[in-house]
Amino acid sequence: MRLSDRIATVRPSATLAVTAKVLELKAEGREVIGFGAGEPDFRTWPHVCEAAHQAIDRGEFYYTAVGGTPDLKKAIRTKLARDNQLEYADKEVVASCGGKHTLYNLMQVTLNPGDEVVIPGPYWVSYRDMALLAGAEPKVVMAREESGFLLSPEELAAAVTDRTRMIIINSPSNPTGAAYSEASLQSLASVLADKDCWVVCDDVYEFIRYDGESPRHMLNLEPRLREHAVVVNSVSKTYAMTGWRLGYAAGPAPLVKAMTTLQGQSTTNPTSIVQVAAGAALSGPQDELQPMVEEFKRRRDYVCDRIGTIDGLSVVVPQGAFYVFVNVAGVLERAGAADGDELALKLLEGAGVGLVGGNDFGSPAHVRISYATSMEQLERGFDNIEAWLKSV
Ligand SMILES: Cc1ncc(COP(=O)(O)O)c(C=O)c1O
Repeated sequence: MRLSDRIATVRPSATLAVTAKVLELKAEGREVIGFGAGEPDFRTWPHVCEAAHQAIDRGEFYYTAVGGTPDLKKAIRTKLARDNQLEYADKEVVASCGGKHTLYNLMQVTLNPGDEVVIPGPYWVSYRDMALLAGAEPKVVMAREESGFLLSPEELAAAVTDRTRMIIINSPSNPTGAAYSEASLQSLASVLADKDCWVVCDDVYEFIRYDGESPRHMLNLEPRLREHAVVVNSVSKTYAMTGWRLGYAAGPAPLVKAMTTLQGQSTTNPTSIVQVAAGAALSGPQDELQPMVEEFKRRRDYVCDRIGTIDGLSVVVPQGAFYVFVNVAGVLERAGAADGDELALKLLEGAGVGLVGGNDFGSPAHVRISYATSMEQLERGFDNIEAWLKSV
């Protein structure tokens, strides 16, 4: 069968692949504990579900404006002003079918063949493939584990060349959970302000952080960024709404217009009912967020304690998101695994625990564990991992 050259450059999402494998084993009747999920194990808030029910009752079943209804845009603007002290107009905001879709559109309308996208690593798997799909070259700049997986302004600046068209900042980060402090963001912003390229702030984990910091947004710390920065966010992680698929971007009007044009020739609007639900999530009461974050923190502490007691494993304690990026270099040899991906497969077969190898995040010496699952599952999963590693 003849397929396009374009699709040949793209790898299947490693995280979704693990989820699929776990489901497959479960379907065979095997008991598998899933540590692969990139989504909160909480329910979407009742008032958000209620808003969706009401939209159905009102019969909101039809196409809307491509980039989102005026109500949704207003809710997004309210959120950006309330949480990030950033004021945007409707024409500077576009909603799409998940943050992934937003980032995809963004790269499609900003990148040309030969352009470089600077991606701090370890990185979320999709940045690389989206850049490739846009014909650009991903340029990964790895943050050192000893520096808590955070880049210094000098390291970031050194990666920028005259071909750099985009730099992505994702804090807190998937997969490491590393989160920049306000002081670090300030120095990164100062370096980026003068660069002639798009600065993408992927804020999807902004509220899931445990260090007590809620830094001002980079665009406030360095207002010169505003002209060439794009804020990308989504309702997925903050509001436990991954399956609803709604993401959004805020940036200069011509860019937003281009993203909307592209969307108009692909998905058209995000689902009408979902737009109503997302609007309720973004502009309604936010009090269910804190208990979720506290529960994630409790699990993070538990997971890091368990890792600390297993010979050969180590972890930089993450300050945000719901992942730990575990250094497995000390167990690879005795487990007979060449890298994190092979170890992940062996753990799936041997310990019945599904987690994601680090290769596709840019680091073969690691595996990613998501603790967006119950304490009981975490306890059992770590018991299994510990027992299996002792047996090899
Ligand atoms: C860093 C990061 N950005 C963006 C996304 C996109 O999320 P969604 O498409 O569900 O909004 C994800 C999802 O895993 C992510 O981890």
